[in-house]
Amino acid sequence: MSAYLLGLDIGTTGARALLCDDNGRVLAVATAEYPLSTPQPLWSEQNPEDWWRGACEALRAVVAQAGVAPERIAGLGLTGQMHGSVFLDEHDRVIRPALLWNDQRTAAECAEITQRVGAERLIAIAGNPALTGFQAPKILWLRNHEPERYARVAQVLLPKDYIRRQLTGVSATDAADAAGTLLLDLRRRDWSDEILAALDIPRAWLPRVFEGPEVTGEVIPAVAADLGLPAGLPVVAGGGDNAAAAVGSGIVQPGIVSSSIGTSGVIFAHANEIALDPQGRLHTFCHSVPGQYHLMAVTLAAGGSFRWFRDTLRAVAGQSLSYDDLTTLAASVPPGAEGLIFLPYLSGERTPHLDPLARGAFIGLTARHTLAHMARAVMEGVVFSLRDGLEIMRSLGIAPGQIRATGGGGKSLLWRQMQADIYATEVATLAAEEGPAYGAALLAGVGAGVFRDVDDAVARCVTVTMTTAPDERAVARYDEVYAIYRDMYAAVRESMHRLAHLN
Ligand code: XUL
Repeated sequence: MSAYLLGLDIGTTGARALLCDDNGRVLAVATAEYPLSTPQPLWSEQNPEDWWRGACEALRAVVAQAGVAPERIAGLGLTGQMHGSVFLDEHDRVIRPALLWNDQRTAAECAEITQRVGAERLIAIAGNPALTGFQAPKILWLRNHEPERYARVAQVLLPKDYIRRQLTGVSATDAADAAGTLLLDLRRRDWSDEILAALDIPRAWLPRVFEGPEVTGEVIPAVAADLGLPAGLPVVAGGGDNAAAAVGSGIVQPGIVSSSIGTSGVIFAHANEIALDPQGRLHTFCHSVPGQYHLMAVTLAAGGSFRWFRDTLRAVAGQSLSYDDLTTLAASVPPGAEGLIFLPYLSGERTPHLDPLARGAFIGLTARHTLAHMARAVMEGVVFSLRDGLEIMRSLGIAPGQIRATGGGGKSLLWRQMQADIYATEVATLAAEEGPAYGAALLAGVGAGVFRDVDDAVARCVTVTMTTAPDERAVARYDEVYAIYRDMYAAVRESMHRLAHLN
């Protein structure tokens, strides 16, 4: 008799619950949205109680939709947006709205962390420099700006771990998500006493760190009854959304890398051992696979650039072109868009520039260029930016034989071929494209004993449906254009910064 597995993703736009069987076949998916607030420029906040309401709604709906006997659900895995800060008082009450991964208010606190810990020690211990999105600077921000609230803090949790606390009464996290706080010692896979002491953050505020598939507790009986879940359902640690999605895409062995194009774009590589970019341009985090690591390059406006282009055309010319229309137009122009290049830094950039003031640009426009060239240049610029991350990984010895395209970038032939040609690597797409909640469900299967380990879960559930080989002539052309793209940021950086300061 088959067992069923649940995954729950506390995303930025909403909660997503998924139920699959022990062969990884997805039986039901349910989502529930919640608001995001921007009370001041650069701020980005959500109310953890909204996440809880969304989580309950999505879990109830997915169980009802799947129509399976609840007692055959073997485990629940949690995943979610990384880096956010949930501040709880001694009675487990939320002290203020959570600051999110895309909140940019903490530049001064990042400088403070770098000064207190030392730039080199930070990268050596936590694998990364202080970046505004990470959790640690948010804790210092509360101390510096809202001391009365800071005085009430008894616990600091990551978004999905607040939901775990509500579901099970247990405070726990997983090594992958914990690595995104900047407080974790990557080698020991536990909190760093050195960083905590330097920042004066009490260890008692932080939850115990587990490996992704480990069981952290059971759903409280009253909550289980309310949500239609079986009493005593084990909840595994799970992982931050990128690591969990990587499990669902089978990125659990060296040599396979994923390229995901959503609003942001992520190149994700598995690593058996810690590989550090001394300049901190890549994120190095623990993986959801026990004892393993991963590298991640983030392009902030990937699909976001393409959406901006579509929406701007609509607004400016009343042209209601769909993504498909734009892709068809782009396909009518040769690789390299006849000398037109787009820099996709519409929201600043993380990899490789770590520059919140970077700006987007079309460079090389002539009277000959049309909407089709611009559409193609936008798509190519996004993939060039992802290649920047891939090249840093290659310089650290990661040599992918295959790149799995997920998100929007796996959906059209043009995106797939463009990625194969720009990465000069075979691109594959997968049968189940269900993102982080799917990976969390597979991790739950490992914790519940349905699968032997993460490799076994992937072998049973993750299948490649299609591969796209690079075209030699396009690869050569793109190499030429990429070399020009690569020089452009440095050439216009100062002007971008001056423009940013005009605002
Ligand atoms: C990763 C990151 C985002 C969030 C939101 O570093 O900031 O991918 O996890 O989903």
